[in-house]
Order: sequence, then C-alpha cells, then structure tokens
Amino acid sequence: MSHELYFNYAELYGLIADDRNFIEELNRLRAFTLPSTGLFVELFAGPAYHGTHLLNGGWNGKVVAIDNSHEMEKVACNRGFNGNYLCADAIIGLEQIVNADLIFIPRYSIVLVDKEYAANLFNQAAKSLDTNGVFFVEIHKDANIENQLYIGGRWDELSIYKRILETPLGKIECIWPYKTEIVDSDQKIVDMDVRITIAKDNLVDEYIFTSREHLHTKADILKFADEAGLKELRERSCELVDSYLLAFGLKECDTKTNSPILADTFQSDILEKLSFNRLFDISSVDACSVQLKKSGLDADAHDSPLSLHVYNLL
Ligand SMILES: C[S@@+](CC[C@H](N)C(=O)[O-])C[C@H]1O[C@@H](n2cnc3c(N)ncnc32)[C@H](O)[C@@H]1O
Repeated sequence: MSHELYFNYAELYGLIADDRNFIEELNRLRAFTLPSTGLFVELFAGPAYHGTHLLNGGWNGKVVAIDNSHEMEKVACNRGFNGNYLCADAIIGLEQIVNADLIFIPRYSIVLVDKEYAANLFNQAAKSLDTNGVFFVEIHKDANIENQLYIGGRWDELSIYKRILETPLGKIECIWPYKTEIVDSDQKIVDMDVRITIAKDNLVDEYIFTSREHLHTKADILKFADEAGLKELRERSCELVDSYLLAFGLKECDTKTNSPILADTFQSDILEKLSFNRLFDISSVDACSVQLKKSGLDADAHDSPLSLHVYNLL
C-alpha cells in the first residue's frame, strides 16, 4: 500500500512532491497575514513543505505539522522544517491542538481516509479551530472523480499525473496513478498504483506502490463540514489548477463575521480573541455556555445572558 511510499521511501516522496509553488498556495491561504501570535497546523504534512515555506518566508507564528510517519518527520527536518512535528495519527494529533488559526490538509490527502474517519476528522478540526479560524482542504475537482473518468483513467489530465525530475539519485519519473482498480464504485473507493522509476547509468529501478483512495466528492466534503458545525467560507475557497481549495469556518461565528457592528467595533486581533461577540444570538443557556467556554472568560463571573452582553460591549 502507499504507506510503504510514505514510510520506507519518504525521501523519494519528498523529491517527487516538491513540485508546487508553495508560496503562492500559502498566499491563497492568506497564511502570511496571520497574526504572529497565530497557530498554523499542517495535517497529513509529509515533508511539511507549506510549514517550512511559511517559516522561511518570515512568518513568526507557531507551526505544527502532523503526520503518522517518522520517516516523513526526518525528511521534513532534513529539509529545514523547524516548527513542531507531531508524529501521530491526524485525529489524535489534532486533539492536542486548540485555538488554531489555520488548519490545512494539502493535496488530496483527505482521500487517504474513509468517510467515517473523514467525518471524525472534521469534527475534531472544528474543536481545534479558534473562533475565527479557517480549515482548508484541498480536494479533487468532481470532474476527475466521476465514474467514467476514474474507470477510464482520465487522471492524465492532472498535473501530478506525470512528473520527471533530475536528482542526485538519477532521473526520476513518477506516474500517479499508473493504474486504477475499483474497490467499491458506490463509495468511490479505488486502488491506485503509483509507478516510480529511477534511471541512472543505464540502469532503471522500478517501484510500484498501491494507494487506497476514497474519492470524496465536493458534496461529501460539504456534508462532513456541515455535520461538524462548519460552514464553507465561499470568499476564502478558491480553485487551483486541478483542485479546489475549500475553506471552512465555525458556523457559530456567523454573527461575528457577518455583523457590520463587529466589523467596526472589534478591529484588533486581541480584542477579537478576547471579546465575546455573539450579540444577537445568545438567547439559550446552552449557547451561552458553549460560547463562554470558547471565549476563555470566567464563567463564574456571569449569571445571566445580560452580563454576556456587557462583555460583548467591552
Ligand atoms: C499524499 S502525502 C501528502 C504530503 C504533503 N502534505 C504534500 O502536500 O505533499 C500524505 C501524507 O499523509 C500521511 N498520513 C496518511 N494517513 C495518515 C493519518 N491517518 N494520520 C496522519 N498522517 C497520515 C502520510 O504519512 C503522508 O505523509
């Protein structure tokens, strides 16, 4: 399975997948504009390209990369990553994160997990996000995962389909996917073979890795988000060459992001974080206690929703 590529050939993966303009992607995420007190989390991080470019690009907030491969952690460190690398399953790693300003799952990695896991991951991401945090997931365009396309192997339209690079190891050619085999067409589960050849001194080494992929559609992703209490932030979602970068924020901050009063009143990051700003939606005790917990304010100091309004106006 593909784990072999991520565990035993992580260095090779590190060379092959270093084929993007990471600064441009980080700009799409608006990562460089996060406050310097912020927390950027890269999930399924592998070589932690994004985190590395973010820190090397001068952002001085905190970066946490999460991946379950120790080999990937070594590759990331050897390539200059100097944030925190949590070598852990994505959900277990995320459980240790609170108040993340940005959580990012790059390049289709969400397909590595099944629907149940993906739903749980979205739930945990919602818990780990800061009130104004954004969760980005990069997914395939639906056109690439319609039945006839994945059966017919139209993946050759993807920019990752064929990658050729000259390296100290030799000339590397990677075909991804080289072959696909349907495991479950209803669930859109396929086994994809990845073929990597390394040519040096007239000798060619060939490696075939099989990756089990759960081809979640955009609708699937929106459903996981909705069930986790997240809503799409359309103004932050965007389209890359052959993927969608979907952005999600907490539904419970609707009033915060939509309210013109808040836009005028709470300009500074610190006030935004400390102030408790659901001005119009604070009617139930449950809603209050959830909001109180998130606000970090002392719950014992409040005895009524009215006192919360006082905090809102501070
Ligand atoms: C396709 S690679 C992506 C690496 C990198 N983010 C990139 O953009 O190239 C997927 C990574 O996810 C990791 N991974 C797979 N399943 C995981 C899980 N359940 N929890 C944490 N990491 C996982 C693998 O070790 C691998 O490094």
